[in-house]
Amino acid sequence: MKRAFLLAGSASYTLSPAMHNAAFRALGARAHYEALALAAAELPEAVARLRDPGCLGANVTIPHKLAVVPLLDTLSEAARATGAVNTIVNRGGALEGHNTDAAGFMRALKEDGGYDPAGQEVVLLGAGGSARAVAYALLRSGVARLAVYNRTLERAHALARALGPYGELEVLSPAQLKGRVRSAALLVNTTSVGLSGVQEGASPLPEDALPRAMVCDIIYRPPQTTLLKRASAAGLAVQNGLPMLVYQGAEALTLWTGLPAPVAVMRAAAEAALAA
Ligand SMILES: NC(=O)c1ccc[n+]([C@@H]2O[C@H](COP(=O)([O-])OP(=O)(O)OC[C@H]3O[C@@H](n4cnc5c(N)ncnc54)[C@H](OP(=O)(O)O)[C@@H]3O)[C@@H](O)[C@H]2O)c1
Repeated sequence: MKRAFLLAGSASYTLSPAMHNAAFRALGARAHYEALALAAAELPEAVARLRDPGCLGANVTIPHKLAVVPLLDTLSEAARATGAVNTIVNRGGALEGHNTDAAGFMRALKEDGGYDPAGQEVVLLGAGGSARAVAYALLRSGVARLAVYNRTLERAHALARALGPYGELEVLSPAQLKGRVRSAALLVNTTSVGLSGVQEGASPLPEDALPRAMVCDIIYRPPQTTLLKRASAAGLAVQNGLPMLVYQGAEALTLWTGLPAPVAVMRAAAEAALAA
């Protein structure tokens, strides 16, 4: 039996075990996925154990996505660009770091949202770990103009500097935010404002600020944040974070097994775990 793990700070609310174990069953793979709750001090030993021949690799989530980077042997371009790893692959004892959040976000936007951001003006809210993956994916997709707004402005400047090699990212001041959101076609929220149990019901934007075409919120719990409800009521296209979660998982599964991921099975398992 092969093993794959989630290296997390807390394992209580994750959908990943349900999603990956359903996928392994559908593929007939003798493999099992398990979430591990690790303190920062436990991370190096847990990562070292991934080199075992019986281990396929791992996913990595809050708060370990940055801290694992120096513990790995090689990084994919997306992992290097974002400075964050959400997937580790064990290749014969050598550990590769990947960031499948970036590709997962873009596949979700294009395939499920039916939206191609190439040539469009986009505003990104947030400058945390997931914002880096989303900004990288948007810059690579050929957006015409990308602006970022974050509560802590210095963090937005740091994101713009880090992704400088991939394109220009303009940092918005609080005074610029509303006007730029209104002129943008797409708005993506990567802040945790609106997240269930944290700030449910809150919105990261003033009520009268919406873009022209689409709002994407990478939160999936609750399925419809206040931001998405407002956008929907205003007749805009909306998308939550579940498709991104499924596609980042699908890409990780393919990296571990070399097999096409059973995306429909993974989505159904994630939806069932979310509803439970
Ligand atoms: N769908 C998916 O597959 C997926 C994947 C990853 C993450 N996510 C979701 O994305 C969200 C962010 O995750 P992350 O890993 O990027 O977290 P993170 O690195 O901790 O970043 C959190 C972001 O939210 C902002 N924020 C938090 N509280 C705020 C408040 N009260 N007002 C304004 N801004 C606030 C932070 O701003 P400051 O810099 O000012 O603190 C920062 O930009 C979470 O809701 C997570 O569930 C979804």
